[in-house]
Amino acid sequence: MNVNQRYGRFRPCVAQVPAKGKSNHRGGQKPGRNRWRRGRGRDMNSEMSEMIDTPRYDRIGQGYAQTRREDPRIADRIRRALGAARTVVNVGAGAGSYEPPDRHVIAVEPSDVMAAQRPRELAPALRAFAQELPLRDRGVDAAMAILSVHHWDDAQERGVREMRRVAAGPVVLLTCDPEVSGAMWLMADYMPEVAALDRRVFPSPQQLAAWLGGRTQVDTVPVPRDTCDWTLMSFWAHPERVLDEAARNATSGFARMAKDVVARVVAAVRRDLLAGTWDARYGHLRRLDEYDAGMRLVINTLD
Ligand SMILES: C[S@@+](CC[C@H](N)C(=O)[O-])C[C@H]1O[C@@H](n2cnc3c(N)ncnc32)[C@H](O)[C@@H]1O
Repeated sequence: MNVNQRYGRFRPCVAQVPAKGKSNHRGGQKPGRNRWRRGRGRDMNSEMSEMIDTPRYDRIGQGYAQTRREDPRIADRIRRALGAARTVVNVGAGAGSYEPPDRHVIAVEPSDVMAAQRPRELAPALRAFAQELPLRDRGVDAAMAILSVHHWDDAQERGVREMRRVAAGPVVLLTCDPEVSGAMWLMADYMPEVAALDRRVFPSPQQLAAWLGGRTQVDTVPVPRDTCDWTLMSFWAHPERVLDEAARNATSGFARMAKDVVARVVAAVRRDLLAGTWDARYGHLRRLDEYDAGMRLVINTLD
């Protein structure tokens, strides 16, 4: 039995984007100002108000779901990590990738732009933040956050502890070990700025374990060459993706870089592809089926 048969739903690696001008969100809610903000701004500290005014993904999330779709192999690992949990909160749920269709999922997502990309068969997302989850202690069986913690800025520790507070069972985090991703050709040879940013924003697996307490297992998740979730880590065998604006923009690594840095990297990769120097140095990667680009699955339980 394959993953699709087992779970009955897998969005295929074909772009499922709404027709121009239409939303695929059930409520038809338009991206834009964050509705959660209304009536709350005044008494919050400035850092929080700034985040609420402009959730990062309201600025960089447009078109995300075109190239960032669930990979069934990674989804299978996440579902196994969730164990027998029947109720799951997905924090930083975005367009809904990796939400298990066979559980009750509460989606938490601050960005309207991301929430508007959720397919209509998924639950709508609550506008809330990891650092203030609207759930009671042990209110759900499990909590998951997929490639999200590095966007929580100064609230990472609070958000991770919140996840631990609300989950009676496992906390499952898909993340990246920046020491490993920084060694990939793209970061090492062309874009040290992203390696430096990643070292600042990704908590190490050890740090996550310390915040979570209890027992933590850290699994290496090799990134398949043919994955349809085009994270920056997936570029390991696909230098051509650097030349593809939509692919670049759906990775926060590129989206957070200054325009001149992106232009420099695109020009250098184009030049090296045309000259054959990229393939001379790294062509062997094209023949691998998978590669450790730094992706890690952190699975925490209370005992
Ligand atoms: C790279 S996207 C991942 C989305 C989705 N989990 C996926 O795997 O496709 C990161 C998500 O984290 C969300 N996010 C950013 N800051 C957050 C916060 N403080 N609390 C919860 N989610 C946050 C963003 O809005 C964005 O949707």
